[in-house]
Amino acid sequence: MSKKPNIQTQIIQADIGADPAYGAVAPPLYTSSTYLWPSTSEKGPYDYGRSNNPNRDGLARALAALEGGAQAVITSSGMSAVDLCLNLIKADDLIIAPHDCYGGTYRLLDHRARQGRIRVKFIDQSDDAALKVALAEKPAMVLIETPSNPLMRLVDIAAIARAAKAVGAIVAADNTFLSPARQKPLELGCDLVIHSTTKYLNGHSDVVGGAVIAIDKTHGEALDWWANCTGVTASPFDAWQTLRGLRTLNIRMDAQEANALAIAQYLQSHNAVTRIYYPGLKNDPGYTLMQAQQSGPGAMLSFEASTPQQAAKIMEGVKIFRLAASLGGVESLICQPSTMTHRGMADTARLKAGITDNLIRLSVGLEAQTDLINDLSQALPSLKG
Ligand SMILES: Cc1ncc(COP(=O)(O)O)c(C=O)c1O
Repeated sequence: MSKKPNIQTQIIQADIGADPAYGAVAPPLYTSSTYLWPSTSEKGPYDYGRSNNPNRDGLARALAALEGGAQAVITSSGMSAVDLCLNLIKADDLIIAPHDCYGGTYRLLDHRARQGRIRVKFIDQSDDAALKVALAEKPAMVLIETPSNPLMRLVDIAAIARAAKAVGAIVAADNTFLSPARQKPLELGCDLVIHSTTKYLNGHSDVVGGAVIAIDKTHGEALDWWANCTGVTASPFDAWQTLRGLRTLNIRMDAQEANALAIAQYLQSHNAVTRIYYPGLKNDPGYTLMQAQQSGPGAMLSFEASTPQQAAKIMEGVKIFRLAASLGGVESLICQPSTMTHRGMADTARLKAGITDNLIRLSVGLEAQTDLINDLSQALPSLKG
């Protein structure tokens, strides 16, 4: 019996040479919004673009294989992927979410709760006592985001999933920051994995997209039904482009992570940096857990300057790192979470989560390592003395 190919081989091969029309090696793009029916009583494999599309299917198969799920649903953005999951619970059900989750996720859950559509509790999921109290309220869903955005705090996925499932909750993990190249939440006990495919999965900063991967068909089919019902499915072009980017995920992650580690080590030794958040550093509080549940620390890191003014100078001083939100692309980006990615959070919630104006977040790209370190070093030394 032939052995199933390695996952990397499966991704490289996904939909290659499968074109039924002309034998195209690379998957063709199917932009048609509608498909012919053989007769009024019988439809073909595809009928209407919102409901199904070959490019979305190709990407969904690849992502399900990568995350180890039964089914994937490809959505128009990471936020629509998060929102799609809310369809699995009833009005007034409780969701437990991390207090330091992505600002857009915080805003969505907070405002859905204000509308009376759900109830939400934001807690520090690394605080065992707080988690125990929250789970005693029998939430219908627990959302995990680890590493958290932007403070790179890790939580124990297996332990939280076990405790959450014991009270009957659906457990969803946002795996955007690491991708399946570094972390597999379904293998650690989660039911759903959420992605902003905008980030590492596409990897080239030229698509906004999302995905939810379900460990079983029951959740997968329900999500697929709701995605069609609410019309949050992705465009064929975005799915096609994302599968193209996905093929190089592993080598991109290896190289970007090596750059990030070198930068973290450099920043650690710099006196203008008061604190660094990167679980790949041995003295980071997340280092042991990182080794246990991740296959590497990833390529995102944050650090603090001593004042907001110094942080602003660094962000204005860099030339290779570009000042922009988002992450996970081949190019290096720098941002100030408090005023950019997390501005959707109320000031009190943001400060409670530890996101100050001193904080700078880096998405480390594929540029030459020495250029990236030189870029930071020419922006940092002016702060000494
Ligand atoms: C962890 C995380 N989840 C979800 C999202 C939302 O994704 P999108 O911008 O594709 O809607 C983001 C965006 O930055 C994110 O960082």
